[in-house]
Amino acid sequence: MHFSFGTGHASAAKADVLLLPLFDTDLSDKKHPPSAWVKSDKKLRGLLTKLAQQEGFKGKGEQTVVIQTHGKLGVARVILLGLGTRAKFNAEVLRLAIGRGIKAANKVKAKTALLQIPGVRELDASLQAAVEGAILGSYRYDKWRTTNKDEKGAPRVDKVQLLLPDGVKKDKAMEATVALARTIAGATAFARDLVNEPAGTMTPTILAEQAKAMAKEVGLALHVFDRKKIEELKMGMFLGVARGSVEEPKLIHLSYTPKDAEAAKRPAVALVGKAITFDSGGLSLKPSEGMLDMKTDMAGSAAVLGAMKVIAQLAPPFPVHGFMGACENMPSGHAYRLGDVLVSRLGKTVEITNTDAEGRLVLGDVLAYANELKPAVIIDLATLTGACIVALGPWVAGAFGDDDQLMWNVLESARSAGEDIWRLPITDTLKDVLKSDVADMKNAGDRMGGSITAAHFLKEFVGDTPWVHLDIAGPSNVSKEKGYLAKGATGFGVRTLVEFVRRRTSELNAADADDAMTGEEA
Ligand code: BES
Ligand code: MN
Ligand code: ZN
Repeated sequence: MHFSFGTGHASAAKADVLLLPLFDTDLSDKKHPPSAWVKSDKKLRGLLTKLAQQEGFKGKGEQTVVIQTHGKLGVARVILLGLGTRAKFNAEVLRLAIGRGIKAANKVKAKTALLQIPGVRELDASLQAAVEGAILGSYRYDKWRTTNKDEKGAPRVDKVQLLLPDGVKKDKAMEATVALARTIAGATAFARDLVNEPAGTMTPTILAEQAKAMAKEVGLALHVFDRKKIEELKMGMFLGVARGSVEEPKLIHLSYTPKDAEAAKRPAVALVGKAITFDSGGLSLKPSEGMLDMKTDMAGSAAVLGAMKVIAQLAPPFPVHGFMGACENMPSGHAYRLGDVLVSRLGKTVEITNTDAEGRLVLGDVLAYANELKPAVIIDLATLTGACIVALGPWVAGAFGDDDQLMWNVLESARSAGEDIWRLPITDTLKDVLKSDVADMKNAGDRMGGSITAAHFLKEFVGDTPWVHLDIAGPSNVSKEKGYLAKGATGFGVRTLVEFVRRRTSELNAADADDAMTGEEA
């Protein structure tokens, strides 16, 4: 999708559609009504007002109305997009609205669009959100369709002219914002593709190849370790899970190192993603309904790969690493059994009480490995527990970790990136649930507080390093389309991770500037 800054007015410029986001007060605003609305309405001799009324369009959030202009405007259709009340506005509201708008535009086979940016205080964030919403709203996974023409090969909006709000002039920073938004949305779509791909064609080997191609494209270093090397690394938990499958496990390590030698020495950010390419449950086999979506059990690693793709281009002044232990969880004559005891890389022993609690086993070994780099922080993302969906619903991710500062940074990054993440406690009261009679611990507790016991398990492998665990079992994959989300994979986590790295960059740069100032004064 190509973006440019339009020079004409929304009421005069030419395109197939005009995407016009409106607040609930805009239609009745006598003092400062948005000129895009007023002038277009005038040219249409009040038709917009009339049709909006007839269709019950009041600018409420989630409202979308498509209006034919019958050649009386530069655009063939105006798409009205409700933003709700100004008081509740944030960039995510616009991201969702533009996503809806692009879907409506594609439905009427539009190829070019004008996108009116609303007059809001958070202009930069809104511009970014609008571009992300447009690209992500256009996303379709139609690789495997051969027949349905509406789904595959149908025209889509590929040229968008961004129109700035009344009285705002374009500047260089805005172009950079659009470029960033395109990079982020592109990487999110890349993550969605990885997750949507069926498990048969997204094996650990193929995931590693995808990581390799991406690393080459953006200039990241990559190491892929095979079973032999994973054995040398004594990752007994990872190997235990991988044993039941004929697919070879892969340990994938991506790294970004700043060019500047001093910056390269800074403590790193380590990102770890769950990469179970298919989770059948193993011998603790899942029922069919529960297994159906389990190609998505590598969504954590997809988020890490998507984020690393952007980070390579952001080039922050500190190293960033991505780790994923990719394997399948399958039942077979080779599979790990209930009652088996696995020996982890850290030497801790684990009694297997449920082979479907496999994610924590692989993550445990990979977290321990990541921790050996002595990173400043570790963030992991994992479709870890169904219990997290029970707790927070399908749209919200759970965040766990005892380091309040890091937790705050992650939650703030999520909030500003428009991803819903809420903290849950790693409460001591549930620690005993993982006590084993035969080993140091067992891998699964009972149902109650299942996400918390999973977090307790992971915590055993990160030592004292500030760490946040994100359980993305819910929002990584949705069963209903919404805003800029299509049914299926969402690419959840990419935007939060990128925002986290951007904030960390700003903080470091600000601290450096402070140092330079005090240096001068001294
Ligand atoms: N991959 C699943 C968690 C999951 C469930 C993700 C639904 C997305 C949607 C995970 O490996 C799993 O099976 N967890 C078990 C843990 C239990 C056996 C302790 C669960 O949640 O039931
Ligand atoms: Mn499982
Ligand atoms: Zn799983």
